[in-house]
Amino acid sequence: METRELGRFLRVVGTSGGRRELRAAWRRRRADARDLPRRGSERARVPGPAQGAEPLPGGGVVRFARSALWIRVTMGGAVFCGWDGAEPEPSYALANGCPDPDARTTLEPDPGGDGWRVVSERITVVVSHHGAVEFRTPGGALLRRELPPRWWDCPGDESRWVQRSQTPADARVFGLGGRAAGPRLAEGSYRLWNTDPLGSFEPGDDPLSITMPVQLVVADAGCHMVFHDNTWDGRVCLREGEEGAGSGHDRPGSCELRVEGGPLRYWVMAGVPGRLLRTWTSLTGRPALPPRWALGHHHARWGFGDAREVRRVADGYRERGLPLSAVHLDIDHLDRHRVFTVDEEHFPDLPGLAEELSRSGTRLVSIVDPGIAAQPGLAAYDSGTAADVFVRDARGRVVRGVVWPGEAVFPDFTDPQVRKWWAGLYAERLGRGFAGFWHDMNEPASFAAFGDRSLPRSARHVLEGRGGDHREAHNVYGLAMARAGYEGLRELRSEARPFLFSRSGWAGMQRYGGTWSGDVATSWAGLRASLSLVLGLGLCGVPYSGPDVGGFSAVPSAELYVRWFQLAAYLPFFRTHSAMGAGRREPWEFGAQALQCARAALVERVRLMPYLYTLAHLTHRTGAPYVRPLWWHHPQDRALRDAGDAFLLGDALLVAPVLEQGAQVRSLQLPGGRWYDTATGTAYEGPGQVLLDAPLHRIPVLARAGAVVPVVGEDGRTELDVWRPAAGRQGRGVLITDDGDGWDEPRTERFTARWQDGEVVVEREGGVGEPLGEPGHRVRLHGEVPG
Ligand code: NOJ
Repeated sequence: METRELGRFLRVVGTSGGRRELRAAWRRRRADARDLPRRGSERARVPGPAQGAEPLPGGGVVRFARSALWIRVTMGGAVFCGWDGAEPEPSYALANGCPDPDARTTLEPDPGGDGWRVVSERITVVVSHHGAVEFRTPGGALLRRELPPRWWDCPGDESRWVQRSQTPADARVFGLGGRAAGPRLAEGSYRLWNTDPLGSFEPGDDPLSITMPVQLVVADAGCHMVFHDNTWDGRVCLREGEEGAGSGHDRPGSCELRVEGGPLRYWVMAGVPGRLLRTWTSLTGRPALPPRWALGHHHARWGFGDAREVRRVADGYRERGLPLSAVHLDIDHLDRHRVFTVDEEHFPDLPGLAEELSRSGTRLVSIVDPGIAAQPGLAAYDSGTAADVFVRDARGRVVRGVVWPGEAVFPDFTDPQVRKWWAGLYAERLGRGFAGFWHDMNEPASFAAFGDRSLPRSARHVLEGRGGDHREAHNVYGLAMARAGYEGLRELRSEARPFLFSRSGWAGMQRYGGTWSGDVATSWAGLRASLSLVLGLGLCGVPYSGPDVGGFSAVPSAELYVRWFQLAAYLPFFRTHSAMGAGRREPWEFGAQALQCARAALVERVRLMPYLYTLAHLTHRTGAPYVRPLWWHHPQDRALRDAGDAFLLGDALLVAPVLEQGAQVRSLQLPGGRWYDTATGTAYEGPGQVLLDAPLHRIPVLARAGAVVPVVGEDGRTELDVWRPAAGRQGRGVLITDDGDGWDEPRTERFTARWQDGEVVVEREGGVGEPLGEPGHRVRLHGEVPG
């Protein structure tokens, strides 16, 4: 038991809740000892020498003495590799099954070696006689080399396997889901098992609620993504490479992936970052488009206590002229923490409250936990029991865990019938006036005095009809719950876009909604972890996320609160939230100066709304996240790969948050090109390091020269901030608008900004010379002319 776990164990064992957790932990341990297949003697296996190959559309199969490798280049450019007969389907990640093979390519003998190759538009795959596989650019540069895999076959149970790979010495790795110590993943070991961190987390705590075997690798040779489509528990060990300073003896970067079972199959994609995210999200689904209000400011607290307090908070925002898009009700609004109920004494007439709040543009969002109190008489429990939806053990008994309401049972979301049943439960929430949904505790978390805080690994799951146990279902539990919620909302309220975000999830979760940081610690390290999570998740295809502003776990100082608020004002999901006992997060709770700073951030958020909403549409169309690492357009710039303390917001803006206590200036690694400080208009030329003023009332935000940024003008109409292009250069921008919700086709306007006779001229594309009036946008030109 780790020290942290031991401390908790000693604290809780004496309490009645603690005794329950102790029982749950024993139960889980007993079930696993009884029901998991006993691993007898294992036999190690490698593919052995190749014995022949068979071309197929898009690739082919190479047969080895003790295994086979199937390679298939698919339309869109992603390459599938499956060992030992593994096929692309079934898969929880793929949105629409496996894309068709790219029939223009096939397997052929490698003219330069003793193996075979598949040449496609963006990747050449070379398979050696012993099962090593290389992925190269069309120009021949090595992106990744995989050594022959190794299995441990075990009669009566899954084979475990390990795959080692190498990347160029200069490569940097990003992704693996939401990691607190990123966004660049340093040397170390990263577990693939969605986990509710105890209490709260900081960098160094790993794993967290969203793990996924998705890596984005950036190197001079090019960028690539690799996704191991396997939901089992595993571990990724990364080691960074070292360059031999001209000696020619580089040590490559290395990655070792160990997985406890399931197929050895993976996808490799290559290209510039924008292309990678496009390919990745065409495979796993484009991110859901949130309703426009979801980009506003949200406020939550665990422990509002009653509707009066909710009104007080909402009134506080309104009276101070602060915009508030949504209030989130945590488990304290439920009747004894039981999901799909309401504590009518403290929250009477929720529909009335929702109606009242909506008059000032504020929606209500409800927490939804998967664990259902095991209490006959409770509607969700009774109907779930009647429909036989709860996870059972190998002997057929319903598995019990412990969550907020006490003893709880867990729907098996990997069963399509169960998803249907669950979907129907949202009717109750909609009837109460809720407009959005916050899925929590869905790793799934089940309290336990020791060991894994989840369901027994031996618990049975339907897994879409195939059948299996929790070892395979665990990591997709949150994803499948999100699917159930999303599909329910589409059915129950078909005219509106679902707004749903989920603490846990897996590859493809973006199809159903977003996520948030979970219980990030209130500390400067927690603030840094917040940005790491958002950046890393975006590179895994999950663009809509954000942290608990102020941190979850304790009362932040006014300065920490302000810096967190300022950062989050530029993140897609902008929500203040705190734990019970961790104080309030209303902007006026931290003194007059903090209120002034928070107000400025909120005003800017509102002003940027047309830009943010355009980004939401672009993300939905292309998979490119709102929040992007600085190397997004310059993956060749090595200094940028290590600069995780700032980010691009779309193509136009660069945000440099203050992440250090007391800092009033900060350095920034600037990408190439000209950038203007949006507060002063000062021009900077990248690439290189610059020092920027960062007084408490603002964080540095830079605009790319030539950017055309749609914003809300003082009269409430959309206007264009145009940042003077560099001499002789042309700039551009886009504005996408719609009704803010629903499914009507949006309207897209593209703009260019160019020099003409010493003046900057802004035009709508497709209408050269067309004035921007009617229904035009006022243009404001910014940015100093560098001396
Ligand atoms: C854990 C969640 O991460 C947190 O945001 C929430 O407040 C608590 N559960 C209580 O529901």
